[in-house]
Amino acid sequence: MRTVLLTSVAIVALCAQSASQSAGSAAPIGAYTVIPQLPGMGRPVDTAAVAARRRALLKRIGRGTVLIPAAHERNIEQDYVQDNDFRQDNTFYYLTELETQDAFLLMTARGQDSLETVLFLPPRTPSQERWTGLRLGPDSVAVRLSGIPTVLPLDSLDTRVRGALQPLYTPQGRGRSSRAPDMAPNSLNVSTIVDSMRVVKDADEISRLRRAVDISVAGHIAAMRAARAGMYEYELEAALEDGFRRNGADRLGYPSIVGSGPNTTTLHYDVNRRKTENGDLVVIDAAAEWGQYTADVTRTFPINGKFTLRQKAIYDLVLGAQQAAFDAVRPGVTMRQLDDVARRYMREHSGNLCGQLTCDDREFFNHGLGHPIGMDVHDVGIGRPLEPGMVITLEPGIYIQAEQLGVRIEDDVLVTAKGGEWLSAGAPRTTDAIEKLMSGR
Ligand code: GLY
Ligand code: MN
Ligand code: MN
Repeated sequence: MRTVLLTSVAIVALCAQSASQSAGSAAPIGAYTVIPQLPGMGRPVDTAAVAARRRALLKRIGRGTVLIPAAHERNIEQDYVQDNDFRQDNTFYYLTELETQDAFLLMTARGQDSLETVLFLPPRTPSQERWTGLRLGPDSVAVRLSGIPTVLPLDSLDTRVRGALQPLYTPQGRGRSSRAPDMAPNSLNVSTIVDSMRVVKDADEISRLRRAVDISVAGHIAAMRAARAGMYEYELEAALEDGFRRNGADRLGYPSIVGSGPNTTTLHYDVNRRKTENGDLVVIDAAAEWGQYTADVTRTFPINGKFTLRQKAIYDLVLGAQQAAFDAVRPGVTMRQLDDVARRYMREHSGNLCGQLTCDDREFFNHGLGHPIGMDVHDVGIGRPLEPGMVITLEPGIYIQAEQLGVRIEDDVLVTAKGGEWLSAGAPRTTDAIEKLMSGR
């Protein structure tokens, strides 16, 4: 981590912490306009969307200054072993969509109609660019790409912050690196405000999520197609992640969970080293990130392509519970209420599938029904009643350890004015659809 000491105000640059695909098709995602990659500068910014977010933030604040740092590149040898993959800080990204590192965003609100936004960028260093490519610098290119009319060199930030209109708001708490102290003493926390704005996704965010979901669906289909009894879990993982990257994933949304047989009952098993056996189920909980937004998708399938009667019975109960929750999605409903709906369905349809208990018992369904997704896989807004524009997961599961039998089905759902829209339905979800896809291998 690098510390930027500004004469009177100590500011610590935060570390980087911080077309549905048809079931039968393995073709790459092709329904999108190809977006050109800007060398070293990430993807084009939706300048109207970020400007609207900045205006909304400053309106919430009324009067004062907001200072947001970009992330800093991690050091492969000193910070995280084998992890120097730069990822922008979510708050900075939300307000700029810039992937440039070590920048600062300074915004001033002097009442409703007087808003000022300044982007501070480090100078370009041609010798460094020969190693790692072009960077955005404090010049007219940055003005054009960011849509921010004032872009200044980073060394002028100190003066501007010292003269800033009070109060000063900076990011604090959730999502910040635990190793980074708060940026400026006595500043107010802007994170809670930005996080609350992130709960309902705007059109640009929804299109990013759709793309992340479509890529994820393609990966799940690739894994199902590759499945053969006797494969190692990591071979399935390779097919899955090949499907992600081949379709343009920026990175994994989270470490891929590929559990077979007994490992299906371990919720976040991601060792992925077991050799599968004929008759196993496989739980794959994995997703791609695209444009800073991640999907979260789980499918459960038989390694040999054919469910046993027992596996199908458990699967169909999980599926029914998920469908019941989906049918209850509408604005105003809470995740807790949806959880109740799913558990009630399981309870009422368990018969003797789970022995003396019903399958909704915490012994078997030992996690929550779902959560919002966005820039974080477990995104902000879990307790908020649903609103159109929120995107959530519905992920019931039944895990019977004594039988080494686990089933989870997880889909991503956009909340609309009338109910919900399945985003990840392109990945086969019923036992029939899964068997049909796998029979064509
Ligand atoms: N992939 C983590 C979860 O489903 O919550
Ligand atoms: Mn999830
Ligand atoms: Mn998941």
